[in-house]
Amino acid sequence: MTRHVLDVDDLSCGELEEVLALAAAPAGAHGDLLGGRGVALVFEKPSARTRSSAELAVVALGGHPVYVQGTEVGIDVRETAEDVARTLACYHAAICARVLDHETLVRMSAAVDAGGGRRWPGPDDGIGTAAVPVVNLLSDAAHPCQALADLLTLRQLLGDLGGRTLCYVGDANNVWRSLAKAAAMVGMRMRTASPEGYSPGPEDLAALGRLGADVEIGHDPVESATGADALYTDVWTSMGQEEEATLRRAAFDGFGIDDRLLAAAAPGAAVLHCLPARRGEEISAEVLESPRSAVWRQAANRLHAMRGLLGWLLGAGGGVGEAAS
Ligand code: CP
Ligand code: NVA
Repeated sequence: MTRHVLDVDDLSCGELEEVLALAAAPAGAHGDLLGGRGVALVFEKPSARTRSSAELAVVALGGHPVYVQGTEVGIDVRETAEDVARTLACYHAAICARVLDHETLVRMSAAVDAGGGRRWPGPDDGIGTAAVPVVNLLSDAAHPCQALADLLTLRQLLGDLGGRTLCYVGDANNVWRSLAKAAAMVGMRMRTASPEGYSPGPEDLAALGRLGADVEIGHDPVESATGADALYTDVWTSMGQEEEATLRRAAFDGFGIDDRLLAAAAPGAAVLHCLPARRGEEISAEVLESPRSAVWRQAANRLHAMRGLLGWLLGAGGGVGEAAS
């Protein structure tokens, strides 16, 4: 069955390790996996890191990235998400999409699964379309490609992550959700400090429980950061929440990573941020620019992580073509 990655736990723990191993392999190790085939990169929201890293990952695998603006295809405006997905599946080896609503990814993956399962439609077959992998490039719910790069980064900095402590300060949002799952999958402890009303919900805690996560949820950033091996944060106002910015700025006041939090963390603790950052809000300029900051390493690792994920999905792990046999 063709595999989709809408969040990091669509992979098993073993598969996650396979993806990370491919991500850590030299860029040329994948050969010409795609042989010139296309990969659609659909964006309903802006991006600096994700678009460039995905485009170059496709090129590194021998493929042809096609950037598709959300406003151009008009998902559920010009035509349905299902029709967009089935159309793109006629041309592309995979569909990667950054969407406003996570449900759009669920519908797109269901549509290509229902499309007949043929890798490429034959000339006399006008009904089915190909079942191709759908990859989440960020939704309101999850950011798995970021979490893969974060694991690569943490391993480079800390070595074996089992039993290490990651402290996330801020909004329990899309980035947090994938990161928390990824941390659980490699045996990291995770502490989260959020203001009241912005903590993980019961569904998140249940999902983490199923992964055997070691999680602590709190509301005191210093307490959560104390002794942590790495500190992580993300913006207080995510894309699509701009109307709440003033409210959120007030609610999250005191939940930024600054010298005080860094002093509470373990000696030499690393600071991570998915970027883009708002200096003076969720992270101080001093910490972001300090030698403890790993944010540019994280940004660089987005390319390696994406190459590893697409290499796995379209190569050994993705089940592409199985349905056709
Ligand atoms: N971290 C991240 O996904 O960055 P972009 O929104 O710039 O792609
Ligand atoms: N939580 C942020 C992440 C950006 C990469 C957002 O969704 O805007």
